[in-house]
Amino acid sequence: MLLDGKSAVVTGAGSGVGRATALRFAAEGARVVCADISAERVEETVRLVEKTGGTAVAVRVDVAEESEVVGMLDSAVEHFGRLDILFNNVGIPTPRLGGALLEDHTVAEFDRLVAVNLRSVFLGCKHAVLRFKEQGGGGVILNTGSVAGLVGWGGAVYGATKGGVHQLTRAVAIEGAPFGIRANALCPAAMPQTNFFAAGGLGQGAELSEEAVRQAGAQHPLGKPITAEDCAAAAVYLVSESAGNVTGVLLPVDGGYVAR
Ligand SMILES: NC(=O)c1ccc[n+]([C@@H]2O[C@H](COP(=O)([O-])OP(=O)(O)OC[C@H]3O[C@@H](n4cnc5c(N)ncnc54)[C@H](O)[C@@H]3O)[C@@H](O)[C@H]2O)c1
Repeated sequence: MLLDGKSAVVTGAGSGVGRATALRFAAEGARVVCADISAERVEETVRLVEKTGGTAVAVRVDVAEESEVVGMLDSAVEHFGRLDILFNNVGIPTPRLGGALLEDHTVAEFDRLVAVNLRSVFLGCKHAVLRFKEQGGGGVILNTGSVAGLVGWGGAVYGATKGGVHQLTRAVAIEGAPFGIRANALCPAAMPQTNFFAAGGLGQGAELSEEAVRQAGAQHPLGKPITAEDCAAAAVYLVSESAGNVTGVLLPVDGGYVAR
């Protein structure tokens, strides 16, 4: 029980990494606010947590909107008495995934990617830090970055938003350290079995062909796709006291991709 009694908020908890991590956090003893723009999907996540004996509540949120992010963090305090852990995990893909070059992006697409992938992390970090300082006793932030923010991967604007997430993570780690606040980021490579590829116009989530999944995995030196559960396992470590002296880290969960 690495997270016994902790109060955690997980964004994007209706699918993929967010859902898998909400389940893992709850299995490790955390009480979890599961937040997502899809009320239906996040309510299903809460049902799955409860089925395994865990404690969770569902909150509908658009993480690009400041008042909604504040409300999401408030609900952790309302339900569980305080906020210990925030996982800023929401991200949307490059439109026309696999095809859109920098010059193909419209200004509206650029603004949407920045709002959902980067402004959301700014808002989450800002209001979690304010809350942690008010409560006292520190706190933990985990952000989902990407290998696309570490190296050129394709998806120029998406990669730029994730590079921004990485720099925010480091800044919060340094500024928060005197207050016992830690901040780290996960940097996954290709996870074809979440709904992310479908959101970028490739396949239909779990209905992606076996060949497409194989091809995505073949990009990594270890030769297999990254899974949401791979990220959830890394997330549990980074938010737990096992990583009590780890901050400002951008952890690739990438089958060796950026080591090449
Ligand atoms: N899947 C990949 O190949 C991959 C690779 C590297 C990084 N990532 C990152 O991993 C994270 C999780 O992605 P995933 O693969 O689990 O994707 P996913 O599409 O399966 O899940 C994302 C969730 O975020 C929710 N969401 C979208 N916009 C939102 C908003 N404005 N407010 C609140 N919720 C919103 C969606 O409803 C969905 O439930 C993202 O940050 C993504 O950028 C994914």
